[in-house]
Amino acid sequence: MEQPVVLITGATGGLGEGFVKAFAQAGYHVVIHTHQNIERARVLKEFVLAQGQEALIIQAELEKHKEAQETIEHVLNAFGRLDVLINNAGLKRDGAIDLLSEEDFDAVLNVNLKAVYNLIKFAVPPMKEAKFGRIINISSGIALTGREHNVNYAASKAALHGLTKSLAKELGPFNITVNIIAPGLVETPMTDYVTPEQKKAYIENVPLRRLGTPEDMAHAALFFADVRSGFISNQILCVNGGNHSA
Ligand SMILES: NC(=O)c1ccc[n+]([C@@H]2O[C@H](COP(=O)([O-])OP(=O)(O)OC[C@H]3O[C@@H](n4cnc5c(N)ncnc54)[C@H](OP(=O)(O)O)[C@@H]3O)[C@@H](O)[C@H]2O)c1
Repeated sequence: MEQPVVLITGATGGLGEGFVKAFAQAGYHVVIHTHQNIERARVLKEFVLAQGQEALIIQAELEKHKEAQETIEHVLNAFGRLDVLINNAGLKRDGAIDLLSEEDFDAVLNVNLKAVYNLIKFAVPPMKEAKFGRIINISSGIALTGREHNVNYAASKAALHGLTKSLAKELGPFNITVNIIAPGLVETPMTDYVTPEQKKAYIENVPLRRLGTPEDMAHAALFFADVRSGFISNQILCVNGGNHSA
């Protein structure tokens, strides 16, 4: 069998880098999507090539329908297949509800939800044709617990849960699985704002007494992506050290 192809959105971010490395090491050709960070994407591409896999960098604003369509076309032109789609790109702009701007509300919903709809819409036809597909949506524990000043972020991630449950039902007959990884706190550029004191307090609520790592998330993604995971769909896997209080 030819090597499978994974498309990772937001591949240049903290979790994204973990996905890129783990999938390249597991024998996947990797499509590295970035919004703006081409320099980082190039470094990751070198890593993938060094593992003996092929890599393709795509820069796109995925919340734009046409750019999402072109992204999938680009992948199919390059590789002729798309086996795994990891919707990982994300944006977090927090604020108290009475101060939360319309712009920040829309931006977060556009990246965290609309871009996911856009990409899946165009990724599904080739997956249906291949009678194989793995869609993995990266949500957040906050979707399940809620958090103050996180109205836009929590709503966008909770919406992914509804989207995932519906799609798992719709796409199951085509041998396409759709699952969610809901990470706990991981140190990445997105969580730069969390103070050492806040991290310490958070860890006290984690039964396994540490923060998550990109490698923890990548391990879960490899599990969902595996051909042997073909009977596992419509699941929310909370990779959070056992902490369900967020
Ligand atoms: N870190 C955590 O504790 C945590 C916890 C729960 C869930 N998550 C989720 O995990 C995912 C990855 O988060 P992270 O912590 O790795 O964040 P990150 O380091 O900030 O990376 C975010 C990624 O999203 C991309 N992105 C930003 N704006 C975009 C846009 N408008 N269009 C397309 N892509 C855009 C960025 O691209 P550029 O690099 O090109 O700007 C970057 O690659 C997100 O969905 C996040 O919500 C993270």
